[in-house]
Amino acid sequence: MRIILIGPPGAGKGTQCQRLSGLLRVPHLSTGEMLRAAVRAGTPEGLEAARFMQAGQLVPDPLIVGMVSGRLMAPDCRDGCLLDGFPRTVPQAETLDDMLERRAISVDGVIELAVPRDELVRRMLARKRADDDPEIFSRRIMSFEEQTAPLLEYYGRQGKLASIDGLGTADEIFERIRVSIDRFRRRARIRG
Ligand code: AP5
Ligand code: MG
Repeated sequence: MRIILIGPPGAGKGTQCQRLSGLLRVPHLSTGEMLRAAVRAGTPEGLEAARFMQAGQLVPDPLIVGMVSGRLMAPDCRDGCLLDGFPRTVPQAETLDDMLERRAISVDGVIELAVPRDELVRRMLARKRADDDPEIFSRRIMSFEEQTAPLLEYYGRQGKLASIDGLGTADEIFERIRVSIDRFRRRARIRG
């Protein structure tokens, strides 16, 4: 299955994808993790991306698409993958749809993790990632609202969106996601 998790910074995308990856036995692809690895390795992409990440802004689409497209076509993604943090803009979503369509496959479902801002801030303050500074965090939330939230409508129109309450324990949220994935599965079976 190909499942996308969408949610604001700190919504729990990474936490839930890690668990889901074990359940569905497909790789967890996090563009944030890929970028942080590129920054640590000091690659040209990493150096370019770091400027945007440190400012709480999205990295330009071409850099992200270049990074993800190879990974998506890797043999371990043949049976599916979990996309965490990609796509994040409508052009990225359109590119993803084109890439998959060329291989006669598609996104099976999109899960939105909805979490109120005060809880996101609480989670951010309890963590110590380089971009978890209150000012940068506000900009990351703004980027989400302006550039990523429109994807909810994009996937809603395709009938692929499940919105989930992201408040509660990680176990409770995992259970809600599992129910949605069962629904995606049944729908995929009906479509044949
Ligand atoms: P990215 O790494 O994707 O960061 P993000 O979207 O800001 O989200 P986070 O990783 O902070 O949160 P999460 O939803 O994964 O939550 P987590 O499970 O960690 O992106 C970083 C940057 O890279 C972007 O700002 C951008 O610059 C760039 N970038 C990445 N992808 C891009 C793209 N496609 N296009 C352009 N630019 C891109 O949980 C958060 C915390 O809460 C953790 O401490 C966790 O332990 C805790 N927690 C989790 N669940 C719960 C719970 N239920 N209750 C309490 N605490 C919880
Ligand atoms: Mg994450």
